Amino acid sequence: MHNVFDMRAAILRWYDDQGRTLPWRVRPEDRAAGVVPEPYAIWLSEVMSQQTTLAHATPYWTAYLSTFPTVIDLADADREVILSMWAGLGYYARARNLHKCAGVVRDEHGGVFPTDEKTLLTLPGIGPYTAATIAAICAEEATNIVDGNVERVISRIFAYDDPLPKGRKGLRELAGTLVRDDRPGDYGQALMDLGATICSPKSPTCLICPWQTWCVAHAAGESVKYPIKTKKKPTPVRYGYAYVLRCGDQILVERRPDKGLLGGMLGVPTSAWGEKPTDHSAAPMKRNWEKIGEVVHVFTHFELRLDVFGAEKDQIDDRMWMFDPSGLPTVFSKVVKSAHKKTGP
Ligand code: ADE
Repeated sequence: MHNVFDMRAAILRWYDDQGRTLPWRVRPEDRAAGVVPEPYAIWLSEVMSQQTTLAHATPYWTAYLSTFPTVIDLADADREVILSMWAGLGYYARARNLHKCAGVVRDEHGGVFPTDEKTLLTLPGIGPYTAATIAAICAEEATNIVDGNVERVISRIFAYDDPLPKGRKGLRELAGTLVRDDRPGDYGQALMDLGATICSPKSPTCLICPWQTWCVAHAAGESVKYPIKTKKKPTPVRYGYAYVLRCGDQILVERRPDKGLLGGMLGVPTSAWGEKPTDHSAAPMKRNWEKIGEVVHVFTHFELRLDVFGAEKDQIDDRMWMFDPSGLPTVFSKVVKSAHKKTGP
């Protein structure tokens, strides 16, 4: 029923014709003209585009490549610059690993980015998805590329019934049955493009899908049922305070400790984040802190609700003050914005 040869031919034809043009992508017609993918640029794009849309990741990719044209430039750069440029992309451990990984490539691989899956897997921050993707795109290695989009496509094609996350291993194996030596990089990217465009979570456009003929879920009229997921527990909520201390148009910031969520990033001072709604009388009230806003921010494993307190100071001291909050992670730029609403022009 699933003729692998025909399926691959169909999706590769579709990719040749309708695959996306992305700034780091070497399209089949470019390759025919002699362009080769640059592993460093591909690595950056893959790390940045995890957990977000390509539209959101693209300006970051452009900024990093123009600031750090080579992996050695990135390895030699100040970690703080790398972290602040990551602000807004989330999952900040990735930015810390980015710098570490560049250092390892400089020191242990002579500055040449590896392109084989096995070596890639030894590098900091490079997991199975990233290793498989770089190796397929840059070295035409026949790897099994599985991201969230691919999981959705494959689970529908085979009407795969084991709920995720437990069923993830079996789903990977199923995806692996379609892997062949023929154009592995284009095939993996075609599969991801298909998942990102046609085979969307809620309203797949099955009638124009190159794999419609083979899709068991579509035949049963049940595409949107897949992938089946175990019902999630409700997201836990954590509570805390954030402090916006202003002096004219400057705001007091601090560097967060290296470990944990938002580690090494700049932020406004906050209380510890606890499991109970905070009792306002417990907030340290050294100065005339006034409650000026509330912010809700959803992280992967919990939702954070911050009460924002504001105060004014008439002179800057030797702590760190910042004019432009664009170098702050999203949760803190939301805090600063909520304070602007109350006190701004
Ligand atoms: N999403 C992340 N990386 C991608 C790639 N190389 N092709 C298509 N979609 C992607």
